[in-house]
Amino acid sequence: MMMPRALLSALALAAICCTLPAPVAAKETGHVSQTKAADAAHVRARALIAQMTLAEKAGQLSQAFAVPFLPPVDDAVASGRLGSLLFVSDPARINQLQKLALEKSRLGIPLLFGFDVVHGLRTIFPVPLGMAASFDPALVEQAQAAAAAEARASGIHWSFAPMVDIARDPRWGRMVEGSGEDPHLGSEMAAAQVRGLQGPAIGTAGRVIAGPKHFLGYGAAPGGRDYEPVSLSDAEIRNVYLPPFTAAIRAGAGNIMSAYMDINQQPAVASKWLLDDLLRGELGFDGFVVSDANGVQNQIAQHFAVDEADAAQRALMAGNDMEMALGPNAFARLPALVEQGKLPVAVLDRAVERVLVAKLRMGLFEHPYVDEGVAARVLADPAHRDLAQRTAERSLVLLQNRGNALPLQPGAAKRVALIGPLADSVADTLGPWVFVPNKAETVTIARGISERLAGMATVDVQPGVQLLRAIPSGLEAFGPKTTPLTAEERQARFEAAVAAARAADQIVLVLGEAQSQSAERASASDLKLPGDQLRLLDAVLATGKPVVLVLLAGRPLDISALVDRIPAVLMAWYPGTRGGTAVARALFGDVNPGGKLPVTWPRSVGQVPIHYARSLTHTPDRADSLYHDAPSTPLFAFGHGLSYTSFRIDPPALDRPVLARGGHVTLTTRVTNTGSRAGDEVVQLYIHQRAGRAMRPARELKAFQRVSLAPGESREISFRIDAAMLSYWNANDRRTILDHGQFDLWVGNSAEAASHVMLAVE
Ligand code: BGC
Repeated sequence: MMMPRALLSALALAAICCTLPAPVAAKETGHVSQTKAADAAHVRARALIAQMTLAEKAGQLSQAFAVPFLPPVDDAVASGRLGSLLFVSDPARINQLQKLALEKSRLGIPLLFGFDVVHGLRTIFPVPLGMAASFDPALVEQAQAAAAAEARASGIHWSFAPMVDIARDPRWGRMVEGSGEDPHLGSEMAAAQVRGLQGPAIGTAGRVIAGPKHFLGYGAAPGGRDYEPVSLSDAEIRNVYLPPFTAAIRAGAGNIMSAYMDINQQPAVASKWLLDDLLRGELGFDGFVVSDANGVQNQIAQHFAVDEADAAQRALMAGNDMEMALGPNAFARLPALVEQGKLPVAVLDRAVERVLVAKLRMGLFEHPYVDEGVAARVLADPAHRDLAQRTAERSLVLLQNRGNALPLQPGAAKRVALIGPLADSVADTLGPWVFVPNKAETVTIARGISERLAGMATVDVQPGVQLLRAIPSGLEAFGPKTTPLTAEERQARFEAAVAAARAADQIVLVLGEAQSQSAERASASDLKLPGDQLRLLDAVLATGKPVVLVLLAGRPLDISALVDRIPAVLMAWYPGTRGGTAVARALFGDVNPGGKLPVTWPRSVGQVPIHYARSLTHTPDRADSLYHDAPSTPLFAFGHGLSYTSFRIDPPALDRPVLARGGHVTLTTRVTNTGSRAGDEVVQLYIHQRAGRAMRPARELKAFQRVSLAPGESREISFRIDAAMLSYWNANDRRTILDHGQFDLWVGNSAEAASHVMLAVE
């Protein structure tokens, strides 16, 4: 028989405050250790669990989308059938739903609100791949802290970010959400983002729980086809895909999202090996794991689980604590599974404890509501927009600049034609994973350039063509709408752009891919500029006017056909709220681009995958003659990025030629700005192990430093080299080892760095 709510709440509170219910036996709780049993949050969580029905426990493990186009969630919240919601960002609605949970549900347990705050909420920062191009983790931490402040002020407690999947195939649309191809850069960015989003501890004021995703290997999708099963060797898992997660967990991440696809022929959401053994056992993760949207249900479509009950049982047993559901909720079957003896109640309790501990650590029991008066001020904080601009400026990568075509002299050309479908598009300036931005605050490139040239030149903005997906994603309800043009409108648009080009003294082309052609369900079979952009380019170049190109995209594109025809190319990713200001300032020389590529840039899709950290073949001297029809080298190397000034990086020197076990050596170099403008260089350290118990990649990035130097200024840079840097996970030993032997060390400003020194390891 159900007790009256008031009595139950009083009982629950008394139990929380005063009694210490016997801890669940260590054997039953898996990795919930005795140390944690002493932790006050665990004690309180267990006291609550002791009051809960099986249905209430299942409710705490259930998360639903609260969006207008899906059935309302209110009844399920009021009856305790949901413990978490996603996609609400209006503080008033958050408080309304929270009130239902607190006042109507039997135990009054607060809801946890999650949201995809991937690169900002209202103030949008560059997409994560762009942020990674800054090679500036401290700045990325600040950006994510500002994003967290906006989220928390809105009532959001948890972000499904950072996305830390290594991506080595630009056909995979989700490359845009991560930090690119490299485990070291990916780890630095993962940790920085967790620190920014979450702060020093879960529950830090103005921050949110960070949820690194998608565990594990999602980025290895064959053919770049989103969601497809992945096949990875143990060594690749440990040495390439795992390190960013390890870094994120060391930075304190409170949540992990499991991945959609299967790995080792098991959906990640139901892989005990991944979630229980590797994540919790080896990495020591002690937060809660959420499925990806519908990930639990999907096991049925994947022909792994028979039905919802089977799917729920497999996910929970494997260590996936919460179900994110976009429709029917498989975890509603958990109570029956316990009653039928198919699921130990201790496994259910273990998951509920992890979720309640997160709510307790966030302080939700004490402060469940958000102050509705505060959000507007925090979201409008001009400091966030300034930070977005600085982040965008530092994410820009100058891919080529023949004849110093850039920077342009403001006012030198009186008639500027700004041409391209992305030049004045708010949605495409912001990029994917943007849901509630302030559109009026968004500075497109057209606006940025027009503001920069005000009173000095006319700017004729012409889209030229329209960018549309050839095949809809099915996720259209979540994104901005585009109405396709008629044939006549398309023709008129094209002709207007060509006319503007003819009349101009200077043309700035803004080409790339629309945000809808990037991110989830946006794999690309070809990397060429989509739509009619190449035709537009041909027509514009035929005018013979000077042209520079700005690219907006979430991946490297095949620009081989145009790099010989356009002297300067600036990669701007999707630069965010102040992206247009940042691009204009770079084009006109107010800032000097200093970003570097976080991903190898292929010449064509046929070269993919072409990440730089591949192992040597038996004919390394013939590495450039592997294709009969094209070079085997990329168009631009990982780590590449030019500047309006020039730098010299001196040959590296070691303080000792031999690394003793347990010791370290210091590598020193000097970087000098040899040009006449202030600028930034990113000094990069790469290593290679010559022989050992495994074949190691030809090069691996192990450290970097971005420095700003005035003309003529010089700075000494040193890197500490120790066992941790040179170790790797070995498949024979099944652990991380350090081999004896010879190591190459290079310093320079890309993965093609030539300055070299040898180090011996004792
Ligand atoms: C994506 C996740 C995301 C979730 C919620 C899924 O489709 O794979 O990365 O966090 O949706 O929006």
